[in-house]
Amino acid sequence: MIIKIFKDSEELGTALGHEFVEAVKENPHIILGLATGSSPLLTYASIAKESQERGVSFAGVKSFNLDEYLSCPLEDQTYRAFMEANLFSYIDIKKENTHFPSATGLSGYDEEIKEAGGVDFQLLGIGRNGHIGFNEPGTPADSLTHVVTLTESTRVANARFFRDDLSLVPTQAVTMGIGTIKKSKRIALIANTLDKAEPIAKLLRGEKDLECPVTALIDHPAFEVYLTEEVDAAVQKLLA
Ligand code: GLP
Repeated sequence: MIIKIFKDSEELGTALGHEFVEAVKENPHIILGLATGSSPLLTYASIAKESQERGVSFAGVKSFNLDEYLSCPLEDQTYRAFMEANLFSYIDIKKENTHFPSATGLSGYDEEIKEAGGVDFQLLGIGRNGHIGFNEPGTPADSLTHVVTLTESTRVANARFFRDDLSLVPTQAVTMGIGTIKKSKRIALIANTLDKAEPIAKLLRGEKDLECPVTALIDHPAFEVYLTEEVDAAVQKLLA
């Protein structure tokens, strides 16, 4: 595990966006694993800006998103809509090369990823309870793409995207499993807000704990953790 610490979210996003653009430049047919949430927003902005400035094309890139809501009542809050609004509309990735898991194609998603050659570079956020994708505490470390019932705390955390109305927040989602995520060749995880300090501290303690899903990645050979100074300071306090 490599820990990278940045002054603030902006510097973190710029640096990680650069890593992605470099990776695409090196391999124009790269398979990307993408995430939603607030954490990667500045990374996406940086990818959009730098790829435009440097003329790096995403036309040969394939993407597989981590997760998608089931029966989302607000069309503009689906994760596909999120990706369109925050990344896809700014780069020349082909729509047919962008993939999201769905309840109808459950077992097919892992197969599709495998057939494409496997995820080369996976971007991850982290939930306050240590979830990755929508793999809530207790999810087996070898799980593949599956349907999940969202925990109350995750729904409350995401209510801000649903007019702060909990009744509008979907109750289920489809997510890549922890086993699916672990197969990615390189993983970059962002923790840029203080509410993520606790699961990051658990991760840095280095003990696998099914109740904190991110700890399943501890022994991944190419796992990078991107922190802001503020988060790092809070983590160090928890570890002291
Ligand atoms: C959601 C997503 C996760 C994301 C998490 C954290 O639950 N399914 O992939 O990591 O939120 O979101 P945020 O980055 O907004 O804190």
